[in-house]
Amino acid sequence: MGKIRVAIIGVGNCASSLIQGISYYRNAKEGTLIPGIMHTRLGGYRIGDIEFTFGIDIDKNKVGKDLASAIYTKPNNTFKFCEVPRLGVPVVRGMTHDGLGYYLSQIIQKAPGPTADIVRLLRETKTDVVINYLPVGSEEATKWYVEQVLTARCAFINCIPVFIASQKYWQKRFIEKGMPVMGDDIKSQVGATILHRILVNLFNDRGVRLDRTSQLNVGGNTDFLNMLERTRLASKKISKTQARYRRRQHSHRTVRLRRLAHRPEVGVYTPRGQDVRRRTPERRVETRSLGFTELGRGRDRRDPLRQTGA
Ligand SMILES: NC(=O)c1ccc[n+]([C@@H]2O[C@H](COP(=O)([O-])OP(=O)(O)OC[C@H]3O[C@@H](n4cnc5c(N)ncnc54)[C@H](O)[C@@H]3O)[C@@H](O)[C@H]2O)c1
Repeated sequence: MGKIRVAIIGVGNCASSLIQGISYYRNAKEGTLIPGIMHTRLGGYRIGDIEFTFGIDIDKNKVGKDLASAIYTKPNNTFKFCEVPRLGVPVVRGMTHDGLGYYLSQIIQKAPGPTADIVRLLRETKTDVVINYLPVGSEEATKWYVEQVLTARCAFINCIPVFIASQKYWQKRFIEKGMPVMGDDIKSQVGATILHRILVNLFNDRGVRLDRTSQLNVGGNTDFLNMLERTRLASKKISKTQARYRRRQHSHRTVRLRRLAHRPEVGVYTPRGQDVRRRTPERRVETRSLGFTELGRGRDRRDPLRQTGA
């Protein structure tokens, strides 16, 4: 088998976990139980067959660095469990568009200089797969990158809740190019969403009628800081709700499960360090039918867009 050559859009915390993990498990022995790894070989490929070609970011502290050192650059704060050796591949300047929201733009400074020629780089580095780890709400930026990926004829894995792989329009575009597309949105290996889904399943199996369910996520990284901007969350709510609701559709029993909107309650990152503060939960207005819960009777006073009425 050959190598799988991968480029990453958004060299943040997820990219750090992925790159550290691949380095850590690169020589994992096959046929043994390895904590944290489901498969050492998939479709004939081993973990060590994954190679990185370049990263794309817009943060001035990351652009121009070797990918291996950019993943440890603040505001990234992923736990460092592996010293990744120099990869010899750069982080290049991407296209900002709507990648930086109100909160992220207060702690991230854009790198100077023009946007790199992404299509040319993808071709020259013989990149097979592009992974999208942009911040939630990066609709325009994601679509811009998808166009570059299509032109360069690469596969695309969309790890964020901007709807690409699930949309007929984009599916058709990838089929026309003969390239695969996967997504949308990833789920942590053992995170809140899978735990929630298992609990819903448990109630279902035990014949307990579930009237309401909601998920409260608390975190302290830039992903959570970005999600304070509620206007960026529309697609995240849909994605999270579907993840839990899908399980119910396979149910044999009649269970009334009201889909409630995902509420990323709030880990606030401050440049002074990790400081997770919980906000007073907003009151929820719940409907009896299947559908999204309306949020926000308690106004979010820190949301600048609401303040200006935008
Ligand atoms: N951690 C999880 O378990 C999980 C689960 C599901 C989805 N996700 C999604 O994955 C995405 C990445 O999460 P993260 O924790 O790595 O976020 P992060 O904030 O740590 O990283 C985002 C990176 O994108 C960069 N960026 C912003 N605009 C850009 C642009 N226009 N072009 C190139 N780079 C740009 C930022 O500078 C930053 O380095 C988020 O959308 C998150 O919601 C994460």
